Amino acid sequence: MDIKIERNPHPAEKPDSSTLGFGRIFTDHMFIMDYYEGEGWKDARIVPFGPITLHPASTVLHYGSEIFEGLKAYRRADGHVQLFRPIENIRRMNNSAERLCLPQIPEDLALQVLTEFVKLEKDWTPDKEGTSLYIRPFMFGNDENLGVHSVKHTTFMIITSPVGSYYKEGINPVKIMIESEDVRAVRGGTGYAKCGGNYAASNRAGEKAEQQGYAQVLWLDGVERKYIEEVGAMNVMFKIDGKIVTPKLTGSILPGITRKSCIEVLKSEGYEVEERLLSVAELEEALENGKLEEAWGCGTAAVVSPIGELKYKDKKFTVNNGEIGPVTQHLYDTLTGIQWGKIEDKFGWTYPLD
Ligand code: PLP
Ligand code: COI
Repeated sequence: MDIKIERNPHPAEKPDSSTLGFGRIFTDHMFIMDYYEGEGWKDARIVPFGPITLHPASTVLHYGSEIFEGLKAYRRADGHVQLFRPIENIRRMNNSAERLCLPQIPEDLALQVLTEFVKLEKDWTPDKEGTSLYIRPFMFGNDENLGVHSVKHTTFMIITSPVGSYYKEGINPVKIMIESEDVRAVRGGTGYAKCGGNYAASNRAGEKAEQQGYAQVLWLDGVERKYIEEVGAMNVMFKIDGKIVTPKLTGSILPGITRKSCIEVLKSEGYEVEERLLSVAELEEALENGKLEEAWGCGTAAVVSPIGELKYKDKKFTVNNGEIGPVTQHLYDTLTGIQWGKIEDKFGWTYPLD
């Protein structure tokens, strides 16, 4: 598809890459295309970054028809810029779209518009260690009426933001509270889709945790509040008695690309990885008898984030003396090594842009 480009006449100064937070600064342009029932995707355009106009009855404002993705462009030591497994994000976006009754984007079209847009903005990819260009594709129902139905007009956009570390702690261990009231998602619901509503529903527990000095919550399943699902907006993994254990994808868990990559790295190195139900009772027992060796969250934004303390009801447990464990560190080094082009990509996960 041809993309019309309107260049920003006032390009901004690139920020100092040592002061980047997460998602606060945006690049000079944004990508937009629209879908109309019966017509398909059309009007692909890159325009100067800025506010968009929505009709007050736009579907997304009332009924939450919205999905998004998150991936990054990384600057290699040799100056070239590359993506990490972009096709996985495109496939997940289409699965999310299917769940929310939004239109799918053919994989080749999605990859074309993504790469053409990011190529235009690639000079914004910072080069300091631990930084990258976060790419946020998103799609929303944009009908101009209040009827509750699947939408006829959908808008798809991509914005990009130079980022540093997601958590202020960086790669230092975070304190996590096990949430036993609110749930993030339920089986049959939208947990496996990356839709905005999941995050809106998560905020209350996240805020409660923060007020008590915790970085995020560990989510339990929505039916029995018994099984571990995710940590904050990341998947979660544990090393218990020498084995790696991560909750299996039951439908209420987002299938993370970092999760998948961690599993593939670990299995290729001979680790035993179990994807299964893991109850909070089993975790508590492992914490009590010293069998829980490491715990970490994994996701694109933070890569891996070690858990140094877990609180469940009124009990507090320290994990690995509050320090990052060897498997967590190894996964961080391996994934970021591949992403930043410092180690050989024997999995074929990187996607060069230039
Ligand atoms: N779980 C949730 C709820 C998320 O929002 C994310 C972030 O994208 C993840 C897990 C990790 O997914 P990924 O590794 O693809 O970034
Ligand atoms: C992740 O990339 O791990 C995320 O959860 C992104 C977040 C900002 C929604």
